[in-house]
Amino acid sequence: MYPLRRNRRLRTTEAIRSLVRETTLSPNDFLVPLFVVEGKGVKEEIASMPNYYRYSLDLLAKEVKELWSLGLKSVLLFVKVPENLKDNSGTEALNAEGLMQRAIKTVKDAVPEMLVMTDVALDPYSIFGHDGIVSEGKILNDDSSAVLAEMALSHAKAGADFVAPSDMMDGRIFEMRTLLEDEGFHDTGIMSYSAKYASAFYGPFRDALDSAPVDEKDVPKNKSSYQMDYANREEAIKETLMDIEEGADIVMVKPGLCYLDIVRDIRNAVNVPVAVYQVSGEYAMIKAAAEKGWLDHDAVVLEQITAIKRAGASLIASYFAKDVVKLIS
Ligand code: PBG
Repeated sequence: MYPLRRNRRLRTTEAIRSLVRETTLSPNDFLVPLFVVEGKGVKEEIASMPNYYRYSLDLLAKEVKELWSLGLKSVLLFVKVPENLKDNSGTEALNAEGLMQRAIKTVKDAVPEMLVMTDVALDPYSIFGHDGIVSEGKILNDDSSAVLAEMALSHAKAGADFVAPSDMMDGRIFEMRTLLEDEGFHDTGIMSYSAKYASAFYGPFRDALDSAPVDEKDVPKNKSSYQMDYANREEAIKETLMDIEEGADIVMVKPGLCYLDIVRDIRNAVNVPVAVYQVSGEYAMIKAAAEKGWLDHDAVVLEQITAIKRAGASLIASYFAKDVVKLIS
């Protein structure tokens, strides 16, 4: 009781504040998303993601060496697929010599100890910009899952340590786990985007990969028939528990900041690591406000990422990973 208890005693100096701080960040918290393109010597800035780039394989190698030197030990790969290689069923996604498969090898050659995770979904490969196969205005669930499982296997064969299905088809984790086991890839992990919401915060990412749903007859305009309704909370737990039963090693909540209640619910409900993806729109908002001089960029980045970890994230996929590691070192 006051004045016996004065809470401010624990806040008097930075020394005591740092001693009692409950949440701290380290390079071990991060997964670095990387965008890969064909070509040589390419490092192109993404218009809606200032200071974030697409790399050709030669410069990807350079970038991952830098990440490793900063203590960042895991990457999450995404590829921008040339338009002429896109179709409705992700044929190119299974190409053993495709861009993703070469990117995996490039990272492993550059830094053998780097943990390589790969995005598994059809949208970068889809002429319609959907995560699964489109038929008569619908996304086919089981046919899509079958292709996604083959895609995961192809990534495992190319050397991926983890596959990260971001598509939200039902049952795809089971399909994938079963195929990987049958083919002897017992140690290839699955990080499932288990509670992925249909969010307007993915806009800049779709610019980065040119992967937005196209506006055509008989093509769903958005991803709401597979990604979750952002009004729902209980459903996130159901999705996540099912993915764990089906064999997911790590589960994920996505996006980050608007969904921290879900992160905490899931943290309390499961006993596997929980990843959180701080997505492209979250990155773009901070960049835009900072450019205008309306927010202190570094301070806001640290505050938001600490909040994500405090909510219960075991690991965080973030476009700010490099910034944060520099800020805390
Ligand atoms: C697609 C995918 C998306 C993201 C990761 N994988 C976008 C989408 O679902 O449309 C978003 C990442 C981001 O916004 O940073 N499978």
